[in-house]
Amino acid sequence: MMHKSEPALAPSTPHRRPIGVFDSGIGGLTVVRHLLEALPDDSFVYLGDTARVPYGNRSRETVRVYAEQCMDFLLQHDVQAIVVACNTVSAVAMDHVMQRSPVPVIGVIEPAAAQAAAVSAAGVIGVIGTRATIASDAYATAIHRHTATARIVSQACPLFVPLVEEGWLDTPATTLVAEAYLSVFRPEDIDTLVLGCTHYPLLTSVIEKLLPGVHLIDCGSCTAVELAHQLQNRPSEAAPPNEQRLHVYVTDPSPLFSELAATFLGMRIGTPHVVTIDHHGIAS
Ligand code: DGL
Repeated sequence: MMHKSEPALAPSTPHRRPIGVFDSGIGGLTVVRHLLEALPDDSFVYLGDTARVPYGNRSRETVRVYAEQCMDFLLQHDVQAIVVACNTVSAVAMDHVMQRSPVPVIGVIEPAAAQAAAVSAAGVIGVIGTRATIASDAYATAIHRHTATARIVSQACPLFVPLVEEGWLDTPATTLVAEAYLSVFRPEDIDTLVLGCTHYPLLTSVIEKLLPGVHLIDCGSCTAVELAHQLQNRPSEAAPPNEQRLHVYVTDPSPLFSELAATFLGMRIGTPHVVTIDHHGIAS
């Protein structure tokens, strides 16, 4: 029992809940790389659906089901917000995830579209992404919300993802494939190009050589800046003490994980936790 003369215990500040991030695979670590920098006092739970990657060639219906399962998994980890790091999910399932999530959700398309509209002087903007992202027209719609007169030239680049996952970031074969895809932009005089896929920032050097002077938009960086801005006025909660800042979960333990994760994230991380998918969804 507390005596009257004893000072009341100060209410302890609750610890800050982690931010959840998901992607079709480990490509979303290119987004986490920027999140770690923009939100230095936060911790992150990352889910890469490596058992079912790639999402980029799948139907909208399938991507929606997968996205909902990824969201449910992160919610079981008591996340305060969810980052949809995958462009394909952001393009075809953003409304679906936002309607179902009890916590705020941010995708990568809106922040990148806003940035593209802001930096393009000529108003002619290129967009590259997976087949599903380009077919959805989500970038054009989002860019037009910021600048109605912009001309958008889009190109799906489905071979870029496997090239990056092979570690072929700057090889003659990569340049050849990139030349074929990016040739659509040359006669169009684009001044800005949105790298609308988790993997494409790793091809920056090849793309820059083929499109010199074109402003490249990295959606991971734009999203991290936007999320930090949105969270700046949240109630103060203590940063978790001495906590590991990044917890990585995958649905399949690829033997290439460590090498790829280091490439995408820019630093080495330990072995990820492997979680299973059954008919109820992704088990926590
Ligand atoms: N993460 C996907 C994206 O950003 C690329 C890989 C895939 O097709 O699943 O669109």
